[in-house]
Amino acid sequence: MPKTSWAVVVHGGCKPMKKSEADPNREGLNDALAEAVAILSSGGSALDAVEAAVRAMEEDPTFNAGRGSKTNAEGEVETDASIMAGDTLELGAVCALKDTLHPVTVARALMPETETLLAGEGAYRFAEARGLARRGVGKTLAAEGAGTTTVGCVALDVEGRLAAATSTGGTGGSKPGRVGDSPLPGLGLYANKVAALSATGQGESIARAMLGARCIIAIENGQEPQAAVEHALTYLEGLPPHSGLIAMDAHGRIGWGHTGDQMALGWASAEAPDFRVELSGIEEAEDG
Ligand code: GLY
Repeated sequence: MPKTSWAVVVHGGCKPMKKSEADPNREGLNDALAEAVAILSSGGSALDAVEAAVRAMEEDPTFNAGRGSKTNAEGEVETDASIMAGDTLELGAVCALKDTLHPVTVARALMPETETLLAGEGAYRFAEARGLARRGVGKTLAAEGAGTTTVGCVALDVEGRLAAATSTGGTGGSKPGRVGDSPLPGLGLYANKVAALSATGQGESIARAMLGARCIIAIENGQEPQAAVEHALTYLEGLPPHSGLIAMDAHGRIGWGHTGDQMALGWASAEAPDFRVELSGIEEAEDG
């Protein structure tokens, strides 16, 4: 495969942000970009880059993933995460997983398995056996959880491989066992040889709109990522708002958009390596 340029986009959710939340969001997105760019610019894989970027945001309580996860109606942290390699279509995903700081890494560990999407206690036991979860971790996370929404990353590496990853602590106050869009291919993420995407927002709306699938199929049909994102978002009309998408094609072209409120995202590429961070809609945010 001919060598190409690398590119990465991260998002820290589509969410109502106060102006006082701008700096932590900017810092968190910059940290996530730094992780991904260090890998991509030294010839590493898109898969490693998206995992590293999402792990950085799972470590950061600014975001609703890992350390910053929201709690469900019973005060427990249940996380969803997924990761996908565009060149092989390998996918790993976990749903309603307790007691882990890095659900994206549990999802990655599932990729070579036969059954690659695990939920609840089964996901926990798999993670624990790999040293990636421990009973009681969730209580610490529940005490810290203050993040706002889902995180994600899409990347293209110098070998021309695309990858995507998404991680979330869910919607907060939800029924135990609730699963959102984030772990489900075609909803909260997807990657193939043509494009990669990660979604954020209201999982039930994203599922009803088939958001990720709409976007990826539009790119497969020849639309550029920005047009494909805008096309996909039209299917959210009339549904509860606050959802968004990032997407990238195999040329490293990017697209993003959201419905309602603000969206936090950042990007960099070999051609424009200075990190760009966008807090879309922050100018309309409340102070405090
Ligand atoms: N997009 C996160 C969720 O609905 O769980």
